[in-house]
Amino acid sequence: MRNLPQVSSFHPFFNEALAVMLKAGGKHFRAQLLLSVVSVYKKELLTQAFDAALALELIHTYSLIHDDLPAMDNADFRRATPTLHKSYDETTAILVGDALNTEAFLLLSRLNLPTSICLKLIETLAFNAGLNGMIIGQAIDCYFEDKKLSLKELEFLHTHKTAKLIAASLKMGCQICELDEDKTAGIYELGLKLGLIFQINDDIIDATLSAEQSGKPTRNDTHKNSFVNLLGLEKAKECKNTLLKECQFENLEKDFCEKLQILVKEYL
Ligand code: IPE
Ligand code: IPE
Ligand code: MG
Ligand code: MG
Ligand code: MG
Repeated sequence: MRNLPQVSSFHPFFNEALAVMLKAGGKHFRAQLLLSVVSVYKKELLTQAFDAALALELIHTYSLIHDDLPAMDNADFRRATPTLHKSYDETTAILVGDALNTEAFLLLSRLNLPTSICLKLIETLAFNAGLNGMIIGQAIDCYFEDKKLSLKELEFLHTHKTAKLIAASLKMGCQICELDEDKTAGIYELGLKLGLIFQINDDIIDATLSAEQSGKPTRNDTHKNSFVNLLGLEKAKECKNTLLKECQFENLEKDFCEKLQILVKEYL
């Protein structure tokens, strides 16, 4: 909590609004991915890694605040908490999102790590959360509501809007530990697969869980391109299981493999 972004100003509630969605929690899946790499490969850097993990959660939380806006998915609650455009107003929600987005990069630029590593982390996050990742994914998701995509196009959409940030979380862990390029590339590829599975699972959550169970409105994807809408629930589940079986955990160090499998079991 002491690490929550804060600003010194005479705005009556901006600091409070900044903290609402962060305090509401979430699974911290992306942070846990980064920390799982560092805890196995260079645990003496865990303190620095915590700030990098926080940067991931700031970016991810900004993306959810914007995703919930009336102009996007129009959701009234998130993490079992009213969304910011509901409890405050759209202006606040947009600006809190903007603030969390930029704060993430500020945090990375100030990590107590060699500048060359900070720069790599900034590049990885900017590439995968930005235009070449989440943004184009979200743009396609919103533009193609009510317009049916092919399975290949849907895979592109999910890979960009969700999987790239998840893969980046693992890659940033590798970059903090200075793992070699081949190993890092292999772990990033595994992250893309896990991220795709994560979004397919999120589509299944929308179709099968209650709002109370998920902490967010469900049955909200009716106009969307989702795996459930394109394939049907049973086939979407099959697809998820097939992709899970394709994940090659065995090539990883035993400790890392075990940590990843715990996360997979819990969240996928
Ligand atoms: C929700 O992400 C948005 C998707 C990319 C599917 P999470 O399911 O990780 O949300 P929180 O952080 O646990 O609230
Ligand atoms: C959002 O996907 C992915 C983001 C990049 C924010 P969804 O719209 O399916 O996420 P939920 O279901 O609202 O959490
Ligand atoms: Mg969305
Ligand atoms: Mg949404
Ligand atoms: Mg969803």
